[in-house]
Amino acid sequence: MEEVWDAQTLLAAYEVMRRLRLDRFAGVVSAGKEARIYRAIDRQGRSYAVKIYLTATAEFRKSIWKYLLGDPRFSGIDTSNTKKLFFAWARKEYRNLLRMYEAGVRVPKPYLVYKNIVVMEFIGKDGLRAPLLREIARELSREEAVMLAKEALKQYELIYCCARLVHADYSEYNLMYLDGRLYVIDVAQAVSLDHPNSSLFLHHDLENIHRFFSRQLKIELPEVEELERWVTSCQRKCRREKEARLP
Ligand SMILES: Nc1ncnc2c1ncn2[C@@H]1O[C@H](COP(=O)(O)OP(=O)(O)OP(=O)(O)O)[C@@H](O)[C@H]1O
Ligand SMILES: [Mg+2]
Repeated sequence: MEEVWDAQTLLAAYEVMRRLRLDRFAGVVSAGKEARIYRAIDRQGRSYAVKIYLTATAEFRKSIWKYLLGDPRFSGIDTSNTKKLFFAWARKEYRNLLRMYEAGVRVPKPYLVYKNIVVMEFIGKDGLRAPLLREIARELSREEAVMLAKEALKQYELIYCCARLVHADYSEYNLMYLDGRLYVIDVAQAVSLDHPNSSLFLHHDLENIHRFFSRQLKIELPEVEELERWVTSCQRKCRREKEARLP
């Protein structure tokens, strides 16, 4: 185990392994500023992505206020306690993942949250993570790029209209590409629509998508304002509504 794991994280990881019957950790997938993502394998050889929040940088502390404190689901959190902050952040990521997953958004299936650890479906093949949209941008044909632009917007529509959330960090860096499909990742900062900054975050997310597809990949897209009107008009039927109408 790596030296960056404190004793509590180590114990928490053992508990996660016990609960999910994981056999072993099989290396680091990504080492970000706050979190590390590991691949873990269960006794049947299935892969999982295990995201562990490890270090609260000053930047992180400063930036998460606007996502955590404005979210009515997380009011009353003691933000002076680093451990508790991470537990809340991990729980927020898990709950956002679950809410999106249940609404039919293509996100990694969430399995478990425990303390500062979130376990979800591993997006990849043969033990290797899938590339980010950013990483395959140059290899895309025009047809593929058009298809993925529609796909990125459709996933956003599902997030907004069906999960009733705003991602708040939606870009080519947080979309993974596997078998012609996009997976939405990194959802801890997503907020509900009643968050005071949700319209601002929405605008920024759609700007990112617009910039990537229209400026970088030269795909013709309506203006950001029009995309915004389209997303927020919520013309699509959501899963739950559909299911509710079934006998
Ligand atoms: N479910 C998953 N399956 C496989 N790989 C994943 C999964 N989730 C994330 N990754 C990989 O780990 C990287 C970091 O994940 P994520 O964006 O959730 O974490 P982060 O701490 O916010 O990192 P960053 O600061 O780099 O955005 C992703 O870019 C992706 O390459
Ligand atoms: Mg990310």
